[in-house]
Amino acid sequence: MEPSTQKLIHTFGALADLGQEIAGTGDFTEMVRTSMHLLLGTLALRRGAVVECSGAGPLRCVAIWGIGDQALNGFEIDESEMESFLCSEISESLVRNTSSTNVFFARHREKLTNEGVELVVPMVVRGEVTGLIMLGGKASGEEFSNDDFETIRAMVRHIGVGIHTHRLLEQLAQRAEENRRLYDELRTIYRDTVRAFAAAIDIKDKYTQGHSERVGRYSEIIAREMGWSEEEVEGIQIAGYLHDIGKLIVDRDIINAPYHIDAKNSSELNRHPSAGYEILSPIRHPYADIPLMAKHHHERIDGRGYPDGLVDQQIPVGAKIVSLADSFDAMTTDRPYKRRRSFEDVVVDLRENSGKQFDGKVVAAFARAILKEVKGETRERRITKMLGKPYLEGEHVETLLTDLITDLEEDFSRKGAKAQSVS
Ligand SMILES: [Fe+2]
Repeated sequence: MEPSTQKLIHTFGALADLGQEIAGTGDFTEMVRTSMHLLLGTLALRRGAVVECSGAGPLRCVAIWGIGDQALNGFEIDESEMESFLCSEISESLVRNTSSTNVFFARHREKLTNEGVELVVPMVVRGEVTGLIMLGGKASGEEFSNDDFETIRAMVRHIGVGIHTHRLLEQLAQRAEENRRLYDELRTIYRDTVRAFAAAIDIKDKYTQGHSERVGRYSEIIAREMGWSEEEVEGIQIAGYLHDIGKLIVDRDIINAPYHIDAKNSSELNRHPSAGYEILSPIRHPYADIPLMAKHHHERIDGRGYPDGLVDQQIPVGAKIVSLADSFDAMTTDRPYKRRRSFEDVVVDLRENSGKQFDGKVVAAFARAILKEVKGETRERRITKMLGKPYLEGEHVETLLTDLITDLEEDFSRKGAKAQSVS
């Protein structure tokens, strides 16, 4: 085989290796370093360096071989030097060639010569200098041939495109990161606004301070126990915060009446779920179904709830969760006219009303979440914090919850078996 053919095959092989290296998704600096070594190896060069630049200013060394580590410190490139690189031909780029018109050489020739750099080749991509490749002479002492220049030109272009692509990807990643940050900020603003609304709702009702916030948290805990996704859990927490937003349009005296209200005032108060729906519907929430959860948080499984008298399957699961969280908080907080109920009492209520007022599966999930806290299986004790520590103390609490869960689960499997035998 002719030596020139052999060299051509060798060069093609190196280019293929280089393409693979550049297309790889690995470490950028490693990619540049390997590419440079491929170039040095192909032409048997003693030394080389790859420096990058973003417009005029200091050059940043990405890879270096055979040249002192500190040698490239202080190298800068200005606008006119970049311009001169854009119109220079590679064969003119020889540092030793004192007749070169390149202004970068004119400024740095002495330093470059001292470091043994013979050739400075710009990496030009889309009409911009993305960096320079500095190369020493051949180990054999031979001059660069035109074929060598061809090889260098092709390989430098490959490396330049690699650097350019890497920059684009970095910019994209930066933009994506910025978008993510902005999105997070917006979500935080949304959540803070919602919590401010929840506080405004609760201030209107002087007996239920913090009620909406607690309903939000209980709802979140139940939904998580039911295996909802993080996104859905966040959504139901918001629905919990806002479930009583419709009360903003109900007369303060009716909300604050310390005794049973008459039928007229009661129907006025019962407007709040639909009013809440009207308020929340025009808003574009980042989560689904929030207006519906507010609208149906007073529906009952047996159809005796309001505003629409929906039954079991017709009620959105989110509304069933908020409904339980709402009632649980009402039963477990003191009112001026009524002390809160004991935990035994609350469990009796939940048991009796499962399948009537509440969905048994939701009750079971809540009971499981409370039981996990009582047994110390959770990192945080969020329910205990809301109820106050002594409320869930005592061995009977664990027994009550375990029995409730067992009974509810037996009930589900009985109903499941019945449904199967009917079908
Ligand atoms: Fe309500």
